[in-house]
Amino acid sequence: KHQTSINEVIDQFSKELTIRDVLEDCIICCDTLTEGSPYDNDPRLVALLHCNHIFHRSCLKEMYISGPKDGHLQCPTCKTIYGEKTGIQPPGSMDFHLVPHCLPGYPGYSTIHIIYNISPGIQGPEHPNPNKPYTARGFPRHCYLPDTDKGRKVLRLLVKAWERRLIFTVGVSSTTGEPNTVTWNEIHHKTEFGSNITGHGYPDPQYLDNVLTELTLQGISE
Ligand code: APR
Ligand code: ZN
Repeated sequence: KHQTSINEVIDQFSKELTIRDVLEDCIICCDTLTEGSPYDNDPRLVALLHCNHIFHRSCLKEMYISGPKDGHLQCPTCKTIYGEKTGIQPPGSMDFHLVPHCLPGYPGYSTIHIIYNISPGIQGPEHPNPNKPYTARGFPRHCYLPDTDKGRKVLRLLVKAWERRLIFTVGVSSTTGEPNTVTWNEIHHKTEFGSNITGHGYPDPQYLDNVLTELTLQGISE
C-alpha cells in the first residue's frame, strides 16, 4: 500500500521518457543518465511535468522516500514544488488585527499585528524525536506587516503557510542551540515594531519581496 502510494506520487508529477540518450547527468545521483540508476539499475528516466528536469525514476523515488513523504515533490534542480508541501508545525493559533500606527518606512499606513501562540507538547511521529517533549520559547510571538496591498498579500499567504504547518518547525534553535524546541521555519517575520535593533524590524524596503520569495520556495503563492 505504502509502496503504491510512493509510485503514485512519482507518476502524478512526472512523465516517462522514451529516449535514453540524454546528455546531462542525474543531479540526484550525479551519474550519467545513459545508464541505470545506481540505486537499483532501473534504466527508466522521467521528466517533471512543469520544469521538465530529467532524472532516473529510481533516484527521484529515493529522494521522495528520504523526505517527509507527504505527497509533494520538489525539483532538486530548480526547486519547483509539485503538490502541496506541508510541514511539522505543532498545534497552536494564529491571530491578527490592525493597529492604527505606522511602521518605519510606511508612513500613513496602519500596521497588521500577527500573534502566534504555540504551547509545549509531546512530539508526534512526524517530529525529529517522537514521544519526547518539545519546548516553545518566546510565545506568544508578535509580528508586524504594513497594511499595504503587498502587506495584505503577504498576510494571506502566511495564513496559507500556517494552515500547511510551515511557519514553525521543531528542531534545534540556531539562536539558543536548544534542541527539541519550536523554531521559525525559513519564512522570515518582522518581530520588532518601532525600531530595528535585532535586524528583525523596520525599515527594510526589501522585506516584503524577500518573504514572498521565501513563501514561493515553500510552494505558497496566489
Ligand atoms: N525575530 C524574527 N526572526 C528571528 C529572530 C527574531 N527575533 N531571531 C531569529 N530569527 C530567524 C533567524 O534569522 C532564522 O532565519 O528565525 C530563523 C530561525 O532561527 P532560530 O534561532 O532557529 O529560531 P527561533 O529559536 O525560533 O528564534 C529565535 O526569535 O521570535 C524570536 O522569541 C524568539 O528569541 C527567539 C528568536
Ligand atoms: Zn540518478
